[in-house]
Amino acid sequence: MKPLLIALALTLAAPMFAHPHPDPHQPRDLRDVAKLHRIAIGSAVDIASLHAEQDYRKVLNREFTHVTAENAMKWESVEPERGVYTWADADALVENARRNHQQVRGHTLLWHNQLPAWLTSGVADGSIDAAELREILREHITTQVKRYKGKIRAWDVVNEVVEEDGSLRQSIWLTHLGPGYIADAFRWAHRADPHAKLYINDYNLEWNQPKIETTLSIVKDLKAQRVPIHGVGFQGHLGIQYDYPGDWANVMRRFADLGLEIAVTELDVRMVLPVTPDKLATQADYYRRALADCVSVKACKELTVWGYTDRHSWVPGWFEGEGAACILDENLARKPAYDALLAVPRRR
Ligand code: G3I
Repeated sequence: MKPLLIALALTLAAPMFAHPHPDPHQPRDLRDVAKLHRIAIGSAVDIASLHAEQDYRKVLNREFTHVTAENAMKWESVEPERGVYTWADADALVENARRNHQQVRGHTLLWHNQLPAWLTSGVADGSIDAAELREILREHITTQVKRYKGKIRAWDVVNEVVEEDGSLRQSIWLTHLGPGYIADAFRWAHRADPHAKLYINDYNLEWNQPKIETTLSIVKDLKAQRVPIHGVGFQGHLGIQYDYPGDWANVMRRFADLGLEIAVTELDVRMVLPVTPDKLATQADYYRRALADCVSVKACKELTVWGYTDRHSWVPGWFEGEGAACILDENLARKPAYDALLAVPRRR
């Protein structure tokens, strides 16, 4: 080829090398990830930040297709005094979600934590007896589920009801109402909103064998009694100082085989501080694997992170010397974990 022709050919080819043809399926943000895998990608919402921080709101609404209230729907938040309901924060969250085409997970109807003082002290001093407690629980579940009827895709009906050793959790519910409270909670929730997906939700369910076996048998039991249970939530509070729960996808499948929908409901990956590039790379790998595990199981419909920014995370307040558990940093800049979620290939 003559030098002139070579030069011409190189000139014409140059743009191809400079700007490789962009892959139309390569996600550019988390909404694209949700679309690619046909699952919901969610975040827990810190209500104070939703109200007060414009940049927090903007990223939340731009990136996520699903939201969960981090605290605003818990019992102490919605009924701090007996019979006095304070819905403003939960309402604001649901309304913000509606305006931004986000689905909502209700968290949570029954838990042993963040119960209002009037309830725990009433039970402790005997002024609330077992029959009244059962009625209070029925009333609480019915009132809250009805308020958001048609606006909540899925409810965490019971949260963390199994101990690490596989026994049922010792709580006011088990002590005073007996194990039947679990079936009751699902039945009451279903009556209040027959279309909402009703979940059992727990932590360490990714790997803790006794917890897994007990939760599976709770689900089988409920199904045998025709109790309306539709899903299991794996909270997914991970830490890079522990191994990644390598059998997680198989555990998901065992629940899916019982006919349940699966969700990763509270994913975060903490680390011992200080942050280093190596730790961020390991963290990114854990996030990637969690999403890959979810999309490898057809029944997995949602992956929600428990806060999307290190600016607002429960981790530093609970684990001394640990933090940086989220996919964006304090300034809302992308961490390697964010990009790792974008890179998970399509499986179905
Ligand atoms: O509301 C009070 C406020 O009035 C007070 O000034 C302030 C002072 O500390 O505390 C506020 O309450 C805090 C509450 O969050 C609301 O911000 C509590 O101290 C704090 O303990 C509470 O922590 C929450 C924790 O649940 C309670 O168990 C975290 O934000 C929340 O991320 C965490 O979420 C749980 C899930 O619901 C269930 N799975 C585990 C997950 C992590 O623990």
